[in-house]
Amino acid sequence: MKKYIIIAMGTGIFGTFPEKIKAGITCASGLEHTLKSELKRLGYKDAPAENGRISFETDVMAVARLNLNLRTADRVYIEVGEFVSQTFDELYEGVKSIRWEDYIPRNGEITVNGKCVKSRLFAVSDCQSIVKKAIVDRLCGRYRLLRLAENGARYDVDFSIYKDKATLMINTSGQGLHKRGYRDMVGIAPIRETLAAGLLLMSDFYKDRPFADPFCGSGTIAIEAARIAMDIAGGAGRRFAFEEWKNFDKRLLALAREEASDKENRGVRLDIAASDIDPKATKLASRHAERAGVADKIRFYVADVGKFSPTSEFGTIVTNPPYGERVYDRDEAEKCYNKLGKAMRAHDGWSFFVITAAKNFQKVFGKKCDREKKIFNSNKECRFYYYYGKKRETAKNIEGDI
Ligand SMILES: C[S@@+](CC[C@H](N)C(=O)[O-])C[C@H]1O[C@@H](n2cnc3c(N)ncnc32)[C@H](O)[C@@H]1O
Repeated sequence: MKKYIIIAMGTGIFGTFPEKIKAGITCASGLEHTLKSELKRLGYKDAPAENGRISFETDVMAVARLNLNLRTADRVYIEVGEFVSQTFDELYEGVKSIRWEDYIPRNGEITVNGKCVKSRLFAVSDCQSIVKKAIVDRLCGRYRLLRLAENGARYDVDFSIYKDKATLMINTSGQGLHKRGYRDMVGIAPIRETLAAGLLLMSDFYKDRPFADPFCGSGTIAIEAARIAMDIAGGAGRRFAFEEWKNFDKRLLALAREEASDKENRGVRLDIAASDIDPKATKLASRHAERAGVADKIRFYVADVGKFSPTSEFGTIVTNPPYGERVYDRDEAEKCYNKLGKAMRAHDGWSFFVITAAKNFQKVFGKKCDREKKIFNSNKECRFYYYYGKKRETAKNIEGDI
């Protein structure tokens, strides 16, 4: 990674963006620790998570690297300013004092979104208008224009006013990073790709270890497992907002893509199974695996979870069964948990990691978990239950070693 930074900085290939930036990365509540581990593995130093965001000073190359590589992040922002803001005047002046011309060209289209939490300023739409006006006034002044044409690439500005402190950010990702590009059709209650990756990274899944998802739905967890094991970067198949920006040097992303593809191991042998009781689900999951470039790594088949019969003694299940709320009723969901519990008892070399919102999961599953973690699945409060299987000496925790 160092090699590329030196080449990039030494040849002065940056666009008009400042070389030093402050990155702000968001993720789902409950995934902060996993995101930090990912950052560490990418070579970034530890930074605290505050108000759902991890922020740190870095170089502009990080915009490309983080967007491309992170599996659990929602979005990558450039934080451009932070100040106390208790009145509309303070908000206007604070925003106007930021060097927006360093980031947004004269024809950039500017959208503003934001939130106010535990602050004197609480009217989001008024704050939105003030932030937009302050940015436009600043840019008109710098570019000597009476009005901005806003007919160029889009720059999404986000503000967060939290406990009277305003933070202004530019969204470099565009659509959330869970949109990897391979899932083009919706199954029953699919889990986000970022959450699926986070659950896998929290589990004891490792590329040498057999893996199964017996409630695979549209295939997200099994596909993310294959991509982790093959070292395919989280955002390898998609575009990012910053790619549209003429003032952002395209070569940085090209370098990041080169680094990422050097790491890929497409030839790795994997033992990944994905099954579902619904044939439409397994068909959709196969389609998504094809689009994700991992079709030859996953065995898809139709089966009731009660028929779970792995071919190996050891392995890992990470799964997202029905919660008994939207599609399945409580009774049906409980039957699934009960069958899953029986499978666990019949295969004690397998670890089971299950995410659900059902409060009585452990009781119906029939065993107290080794550990549980509160986690949000699309704003729904859930628990992630850890059941470790009997140890095998070579099994490694992927969080410590990928
Ligand atoms: C919450 S969805 C899984 C969504 C999946 N994680 C995804 O990202 O698309 C639950 C899945 O469990 C499946 N299912 C329900 N009962 C089942 C059973 N008895 N055995 C196996 N699969 C079952 C449903 O068909 C559904 O696809």
